[in-house]
Amino acid sequence: MTQDELKTLVGRAALDFVPAGAVIGVGTGSTVNKFIDALATVRDRVAGAVSSSVQSTERLRAHGIAVFEANDVTGLPVYIDGADEIDGHGRMIKGGGAALTREKIVADLAERFVCIADASKRVAVLGRFPLPVEVIDIAREQVVRRFASLGARAVLRAGVITDNGHPLLDVHGLAITDPLALETEINQWPGVVAVGIFARHRARVCLLGAPEGVQRIDYDAPA
Ligand code: 5RP
Repeated sequence: MTQDELKTLVGRAALDFVPAGAVIGVGTGSTVNKFIDALATVRDRVAGAVSSSVQSTERLRAHGIAVFEANDVTGLPVYIDGADEIDGHGRMIKGGGAALTREKIVADLAERFVCIADASKRVAVLGRFPLPVEVIDIAREQVVRRFASLGARAVLRAGVITDNGHPLLDVHGLAITDPLALETEINQWPGVVAVGIFARHRARVCLLGAPEGVQRIDYDAPA
């Protein structure tokens, strides 16, 4: 099975997590695009979506699915999104598609984060995928130096400006053994808009696509 077929598989499987009549949170990326396409086949089942990017908003609307602003809702039953890496506790690196800030905002509104990913995204320790960090431009070099002091190399993502109008750094060389502590630390740095560590907003469930089928992982299930 190709990676694209695995994404289709988990995109369809995520429909099981969509409550009837609800407004749901929808993330960004190629895996989420598969979910949006699957959602379109049952679009009358949902009241609409809050989207984490202009790209997903356009795709949802093209399918005739109503899109609401995050400001218009007080909560969401579920947020469905992909990941660049996910560890054994549901903690993730996100932002490969430059949507990390809005993804965190929508995830924060949701009761449950359901991650959809192909099996290549599963890792023991986060950090091989360069960590995306959205910054205010005038703080960019200061943030680069802070990462250098941690032994990491932050590189400007060339030609990319986020939906919020900011540049992005991709940080190489971090082994993120304590994701919550590092997320908390980086969030304190002036000029950081959002860091792509999702530890506080970790996934509660992951649907992992593998050639054998979709594996469901519940991170909060009793051992
Ligand atoms: C976008 C994201 C995506 O969820 C992440 O990059 C995974 O994307 P894909 O499903 O295309 O592999 O965080 O900012």
